[in-house]
Amino acid sequence: PTARFVLDPAFAVGDVDPRLFGSFVEHLGRCVYTGLYEPGHPAADADGLRTDVLDLIRELGVTAIRYPGGNFVSGYDWEDGVGPKETRPRRLDPAWRSTETNQFGLSEFMAFVRKVDGAEPMLAANLGTRGVREALALLEYANHPGGTTRSDQRIAHGDKEPYGVRLWCLGNEMDGPWQIGHKEADEYGKLAAATAWAMRLVDPDVRLVACGSSAQFMPTFGAWESAVLEHTYDLVDYISMHAYYEEKEGDRDSFLASAVDTESFIENTVATCDSVGARLKSKKRIDIAFDEWNVWYSSRPEAEPRNWQQAPRLLEDVYTVTDAVVFGSLLIALLRHADRVRLACLAQLVNVIAPIMTEPGGPAWRQTTFFPFAQASRHGRGRVLQVNVDSPTYPTEKFGDVPLVQATAVADDTTGAVTVFAVNRSQTDALPLEVALRGLDGLTRVVEHSVLTDPDPDARNTLDQPERVAPAAATGTVLDGAVLRATLPALSWNMIRLV
Ligand code: AHR
Repeated sequence: PTARFVLDPAFAVGDVDPRLFGSFVEHLGRCVYTGLYEPGHPAADADGLRTDVLDLIRELGVTAIRYPGGNFVSGYDWEDGVGPKETRPRRLDPAWRSTETNQFGLSEFMAFVRKVDGAEPMLAANLGTRGVREALALLEYANHPGGTTRSDQRIAHGDKEPYGVRLWCLGNEMDGPWQIGHKEADEYGKLAAATAWAMRLVDPDVRLVACGSSAQFMPTFGAWESAVLEHTYDLVDYISMHAYYEEKEGDRDSFLASAVDTESFIENTVATCDSVGARLKSKKRIDIAFDEWNVWYSSRPEAEPRNWQQAPRLLEDVYTVTDAVVFGSLLIALLRHADRVRLACLAQLVNVIAPIMTEPGGPAWRQTTFFPFAQASRHGRGRVLQVNVDSPTYPTEKFGDVPLVQATAVADDTTGAVTVFAVNRSQTDALPLEVALRGLDGLTRVVEHSVLTDPDPDARNTLDQPERVAPAAATGTVLDGAVLRATLPALSWNMIRLV
């Protein structure tokens, strides 16, 4: 059996918004403290930021960085994290049952983002325990040039120039019963609308994200989006989606097919948004901010108890090659819907379900999931072409028969290059791939076929073996006239670049 598809630039999905390659920094575990921020570490700069971690973040190629939560934000007072560090309060963080020292806050975050080339900040306002007034105060502190108490405070705290933050989340996962200050859809919709309306008065250039569903399996999915958008349709730009996947009860076949859920979740959310737009007779289109996505082993026991420690080891998942293949398929799902998914955040960035790990006082290294993200961010810019893979299938418990090969392709109209991203979900067999190129006569050769695979599907990178897994060059991939021929090894992530 062979997997096949046709590429024709006349049939495109849409342009990739660079914000698709965003990530997420939450005050959770060691994402901030001893992750990206560790004063006293040999590699720390004058701001206490770890330069070894910054180098990896730049290599990863993240664009929008969401902050400061996550569940954390729903119990957070942003004012605690600004001003002289010695006077900042120590607080309980009820979301993660940790102690928050507030030594890192908004201005430290902004200094961090400025050091990540090509990245922009995305802030979440607390709509769990707070509301319109606090969101306005934060916006004034962040974006107003000066001459008011809040904006002059920012200047007095050392940041003369306004931050100019464009992207704002109106709360986090407000549909989730676990969320501090959880709300019913109507209640949240009204609060989000009032907040959005007032924020636009202060800064008309903001781009606002209303909370959608925390997962497709949420009992309120669909009804929640409809109700929230009935209140906010004209006032927000995006609705959020969150999705995490893990292998459960040894069902690896279903786990490998997780992106089937991602794609249907996106399509169902788009349909819900558009149905509200139709009901309101609106010409406006609501885009998707998929602002939390990843593989997350949330049902595994935690390494450390949540007993009010400072920066405990929470959610420090160590990703295997299998996880990286699933992760790659999630990225492919986002790209395949680039016309409506205009922003996405890999949750999270360092140590906490992250592509980058660190040891306090020690090194930083790349997890297996680092590689698909870095490659997609680097080479997945341009126009996504339609890809309908004709692939052999395999049976899964959760999703029925699923194609073994999932793929997307991105054309860079400035260079003429085309990059194919593909996963082979088979745990046992390599699969031949044939891609017929139409209207792509300018393409003459394969410059690279990079593959992430391993004889051990559970291979991973660790402190002891930080470079155990890395992508390697595949051989035998050719452009044979107008047909690309390649072999996708069993259980693999692939990037094939044509010029
Ligand atoms: O990313 C970890 C957590 O997952 C976030 O805090 C929350 O928004 C989601 O449930």
